[in-house]
Amino acid sequence: MEAIQSNFRLVAFPQAVPPTRAALIAGVRRADAVICALTERVDRKVLEAAPHLKVVANYAVGYNNIDVKTAKARGIIVSNTPDVLTEATADLTWGLLLAVARRILEGDQLVRGGSWSGWEPTQLLGLDVYGKTLGIVGMGRIGQAVARRAAGFRMAVRYCHHGSAPPAGLAGWIQGSFDEVLRQSDFLTLHVPLTEETHHLIGAAELRRVRSTAVLINTSRGPVVDEAALAAALREGRLAGAGLDVFEKEPDVHPGLRALGQVVLLPHLGSATLSTRIRMGMLCVENVLAVLEGRAAPNRVA
Ligand code: DGY
Repeated sequence: MEAIQSNFRLVAFPQAVPPTRAALIAGVRRADAVICALTERVDRKVLEAAPHLKVVANYAVGYNNIDVKTAKARGIIVSNTPDVLTEATADLTWGLLLAVARRILEGDQLVRGGSWSGWEPTQLLGLDVYGKTLGIVGMGRIGQAVARRAAGFRMAVRYCHHGSAPPAGLAGWIQGSFDEVLRQSDFLTLHVPLTEETHHLIGAAELRRVRSTAVLINTSRGPVVDEAALAAALREGRLAGAGLDVFEKEPDVHPGLRALGQVVLLPHLGSATLSTRIRMGMLCVENVLAVLEGRAAPNRVA
């Protein structure tokens, strides 16, 4: 905010609360630049209400909340926050994976609730992680950072890439079809952007192809998974567990998922470390300043 304020007039909404739709539309009317979060739907209506707008800097790497097509047509530059959140998101992905596999939350609840009566040989038995197969759907920056961490667990990494250009130099990890990754993974983790093609990428049909002993992890975007189909697969024992940081209709969560013990649910914390969030904010500032000062936006996506 200081960096912006030293050169421009800043109009800020209270940090913790997303603006209402009406406030957003009214707020952009005089704006040359907008910094927004994934909670703001910057669609045609918002863009058309902003005749002076030159840049929308999204405080996230994913930018499915922005109508990029309309922005392009109106000559508005859109930027995101790549790289700075890759490692934090990969760490959280592993946190979820381990929490589900080793039933960490259930253990915590047992101890905290005061009902733990002591060590038992069959208490809260979980799944092995080391030596298993990690399946990665979407081998972009975050997918690769997740894969790197698998070496410490001596896991085989199988991946498929959903995106424009297949990444280069991924020696040591096995590329396969989406179907092979679904069928061969013990832990399946999703790292695709949300697009029309990836909406419900994991639905009822795909969940019939995964191992019943497998665990699904999603730290990408909620609508990539059909939550109702996932809840049914878990309830019917066709999948062993799930770790979810993102949901179809945040902040709402499918009630069928909340009811299940083998699911760990987090409130979209992938990038939530202090230093990462500061770096994301500064990237937004850099992109806004670049455009308003007539330079190229370093993280332009459209
Ligand atoms: C992103 O960047 O897309 C995350 O979901 C929020 O940090």
